[in-house]
Amino acid sequence: MHTFTVLGIETSCDETAAAVVRGGLPGPGEILSNALFSQTEAHAPYGGVVPEIASRAHLEILDGMIEKALADAKIPLEKMDAIAVTAGPGLIGGVMVGLTTAKALALAVGKPLIAVNHLVGHALTARLTDGVAFPFLLLLVSGGHCQLLAVEGPDAFRLYGTTQDDAAGEAYDKVAKLLGLAYPGGPNVEKAAEHGNPKRYALPRPLLGRNSSALKNSADFSFSGLKTAMRQLVLTGGVDVNDACASFQAAVIDILRDRTANALALFQRDFPDVENPTLVVAGGVAANIAIGSALTQLALRHDFQIRIPPPRLCTDNAVMIAWAGLEKLAGGASDPVSIGPRARWPLDPRSMEGMQK
Ligand code: KG4
Ligand code: ZN
Repeated sequence: MHTFTVLGIETSCDETAAAVVRGGLPGPGEILSNALFSQTEAHAPYGGVVPEIASRAHLEILDGMIEKALADAKIPLEKMDAIAVTAGPGLIGGVMVGLTTAKALALAVGKPLIAVNHLVGHALTARLTDGVAFPFLLLLVSGGHCQLLAVEGPDAFRLYGTTQDDAAGEAYDKVAKLLGLAYPGGPNVEKAAEHGNPKRYALPRPLLGRNSSALKNSADFSFSGLKTAMRQLVLTGGVDVNDACASFQAAVIDILRDRTANALALFQRDFPDVENPTLVVAGGVAANIAIGSALTQLALRHDFQIRIPPPRLCTDNAVMIAWAGLEKLAGGASDPVSIGPRARWPLDPRSMEGMQK
């Protein structure tokens, strides 16, 4: 097996990250370093990511992260086989900081530049950690995305469902804000939910049980009705925060389980010959233990294996970008230094509309 060593750079949201990964296809790969600075504190007073603050912070911090990633890996830049960088989708200012830096490094040492789709990074993480073979079913749940896809190759995705409104992580963050919990909301809502009664408040589960042709994709999601119900609940006054979080999380779990069950069936319809089909859960929300165990039970019931990367590889990081770059490089691809940043960049180009916000 031919192995490659790749430096990855990630600056598309509020993590400034650089990492070095080594390996060959189909994985698993070796994480040689994982330098990450989370800008959470800078954005916390605003209850969400402020794009201007993010891009300025990336500019100040990125060089140090790259130095740390190379030093921790004990491999100089000249020894990299390629420089991989997130070129989108994401906050355009941040993406530009990372992309410009990567171009400069690639030119300086005469190595290939690899432009990586951030979502592909999340999607392929389970190949880095477990060497999961193509095709597999992916539930991608993050702050900006909520999608079910068949992953047929590093550049081949078939969309089964996407959110019609909010992403799951976005719903967590908004509910946290409503309840006065600190940003980022996901982990705090999960913690509060552990001490609450999930049956205390009756909340809606939009689209549950629906797989009719009225939906563009029969595994579509919707969270806005749930979010509105949470707002009304809070407005009535006197809510117990733990019970509200537990009731919200129970609704999210029901939605994810129901939509994923549809996608498991679609995957089996499309890939009847795959002997040990695998469900991969990726993206920041995949760090949620309660969601992970509900999906594990679902997968086992349907004879699917399940792979959920460790939490630090579920939330944004540069390891996944280095790995996705490595897969692209192994397939013989690289990008010209003229390549530009993309605020939007869907995984399945056949379904552009409503995919990203
Ligand atoms: O993948 P990610 O780091 O960034 C994006 O690409 O969006 O995902 C961040 C999202 C945030 O909305 C955050 O609240 C959510 O993932 N998140 C969680 C948990 N940890 C992070 N949501 C629920 N439970 C968690 N434990
Ligand atoms: Zn992400």
